[in-house]
Amino acid sequence: MTDKNFPLTGRGSVAVHAGHKQDPNYAHLVPIYASSTFVFDEAEQGMRRFSGKEDGYIYSRWGNPTFTEAENKIAALESFGIEKNGSPLEAKGILHASGMAAITTLLLSNLKAGDKILTHYSLYGGTEEIITKVLPALGITAIIADLRDLNKAEEAIKNDPAIKLLYIETPANPTIQCVDIEELGKLAKRYGLITACDNTFATPYLQQPFRSGIDFIVHSTTKFLNGHGTAIGGILLGTDIEFMKTKAYTMAKTLGGNANPFDAFLLINGMKTLELRMDRHCHNAMEVANYLTSHTAVANVNYTGLPGHPDHSIAMKQMRHPGAMLSFELKEGLQGGIDFMNKLKNVCTYCFPRYL
Ligand SMILES: Cc1ncc(COP(=O)(O)O)c(C=O)c1O
Repeated sequence: MTDKNFPLTGRGSVAVHAGHKQDPNYAHLVPIYASSTFVFDEAEQGMRRFSGKEDGYIYSRWGNPTFTEAENKIAALESFGIEKNGSPLEAKGILHASGMAAITTLLLSNLKAGDKILTHYSLYGGTEEIITKVLPALGITAIIADLRDLNKAEEAIKNDPAIKLLYIETPANPTIQCVDIEELGKLAKRYGLITACDNTFATPYLQQPFRSGIDFIVHSTTKFLNGHGTAIGGILLGTDIEFMKTKAYTMAKTLGGNANPFDAFLLINGMKTLELRMDRHCHNAMEVANYLTSHTAVANVNYTGLPGHPDHSIAMKQMRHPGAMLSFELKEGLQGGIDFMNKLKNVCTYCFPRYL
């Protein structure tokens, strides 16, 4: 059976169709390939597959057809409509068990002892933890600056030749701070740095860091990509296909933070409604932000859609919409936050009260 190729002209169609290969048994969805290993027709075929001379699945820590569909769909979304040297940009993804596993592969496949990471001070807590608490034991350290100030960023890079990688997360969890992907990307390239962006909060529907020449994108697919809170997951994407197939792949498969077929299946199906959900999430976020701004108990609303937000113009420049996430601070501080949470239904880690 052959695949019929037809052009995918909109993000919504890419989210539904991209990455799908016709199933040999005519299933209309990719099956959950719940198989730890894959069989060979003959020993020689196994040898060819192990040596990389023949494509094919071997062992699910190394790759699995259900992962492949999710990887190709996210790669297609992140590279949609982008050209490089007159051809459509090619990106490759490696699906992981979590966003943190994908970030670990990114950092360990690009950095060695003595190297430094330059990053913004507002990052997801787990990322900050690996950068400041785990990597230093391996001789990899970080310079943390306010990357919204491009002069400060350049100063840091100029003063420290050990900086090898620029890592950004925009909008950041939970402050929703944004940094300028295009300007930071250009600056990093002027100094020969590798660039990586956590695109979890924006999703490729709102922002495509590859458009600004960023080398790597990571996602916690646990959030908007899955969209239904059914699975933890992550992905590392890159446009240097050779690097992705060799260094990144070797790191991913030996660290062992692989995805599992059931979670990959949930992710694939969740992503099909990405466009519809993001439009509605963004609309709702704007409504909630406007409501909260005029509420007497609220001290501050962190939403880049509000013209008064310090990162409003950066968000408007690089995102199709200021996004679906917001946070807010109460005049009553932490206790006010606890009291508020206790009046809500279904309080979970996504809305845990904390001081920023
Ligand atoms: C922006 C961002 N990046 C990375 C992660 C880590 O992802 P995971 O929890 O899937 O490991 C999170 C989790 O909340 C996040 O919000």
